[in-house]
Amino acid sequence: MTRLNGKTAVITGGATGIGLAAAQRLIDEGAFVFLFGRRQDVLDAAVADLGPNARGVQGSVSDEADLDRLYAAVKAERGTLDIVFANAGVGSQLKLGEITAEHIDETFDINVKGTIFTVQKALPLMGEGGSIILTGSSAGTTGAPAFTAYSASKAAVRNLARTWAEDLKGTGIRVNVLSPGATATELAKAALGEEGQKVFASMTPLQRMADPAEIGAAAAFLASSDSSFMTASELAVDGGLAQL
Ligand SMILES: NC(=O)c1ccc[n+]([C@@H]2O[C@H](COP(=O)([O-])OP(=O)(O)OC[C@H]3O[C@@H](n4cnc5c(N)ncnc54)[C@H](OP(=O)(O)O)[C@@H]3O)[C@@H](O)[C@H]2O)c1
Repeated sequence: MTRLNGKTAVITGGATGIGLAAAQRLIDEGAFVFLFGRRQDVLDAAVADLGPNARGVQGSVSDEADLDRLYAAVKAERGTLDIVFANAGVGSQLKLGEITAEHIDETFDINVKGTIFTVQKALPLMGEGGSIILTGSSAGTTGAPAFTAYSASKAAVRNLARTWAEDLKGTGIRVNVLSPGATATELAKAALGEEGQKVFASMTPLQRMADPAEIGAAAAFLASSDSSFMTASELAVDGGLAQL
């Protein structure tokens, strides 16, 4: 497919899991992709796998100066930006009664503040036809045990798309939320453990976890003009987990 020919994309957290699968899919469809993440060695390995249409920029979404460097690199090499997939995120469990201020701060710093500045700092490079994809979660609309900070952060992200669709009126830039269900990545393994992953798979109407490539395919749809009349939407790619 060539529906993203000539497009430039930024994917935060693009070197692993869902972000990496999305990077592969966007490149397969013709895009040039900048990956952004904290671990240089992981970025290097991803760029080596993805080939000449991928670049890696090291940094954290919670550091505004790092984001400035990311977009300076995009501007220097490509001039403009068409697609932002704000995918970087963290999630871990702490039961009510055990929650710490540090846990809340880390989760919101990356998932909420990081998403806000990832998008705000991208806007000067974007224009008509641009597509912003935020990463929500089935946990943003359902109750999930011990996921207070994570679920609340993803509920906040869900609202960002609705608010920004207002703020972006007249720009021709669309903004939507992609909300995966349980997806087989390192984050899911660390957050849920082997047993927890089995439980989430069995709670899912399709009776399994997603392959990251299935979320990447949905990201490519939202990035492309195939979704040209969608903005402020939440696209659930969750095997039905949050839909019943
Ligand atoms: N897997 C699931 O079941 C599931 C379900 C619903 C939603 N999601 C969401 O999907 C997104 C991707 O997660 P994943 O499952 O693919 O897990 P993952 O493989 O752990 O990916 C998370 C990525 O985010 C990057 N990252 C974390 N903190 C960052 C920061 N401060 N600055 C820049 N990059 C940062 C990580 O790289 P570095 O550590 O190198 O920075 C990593 O590449 C997350 O937003 C997650 O909440 C996942």
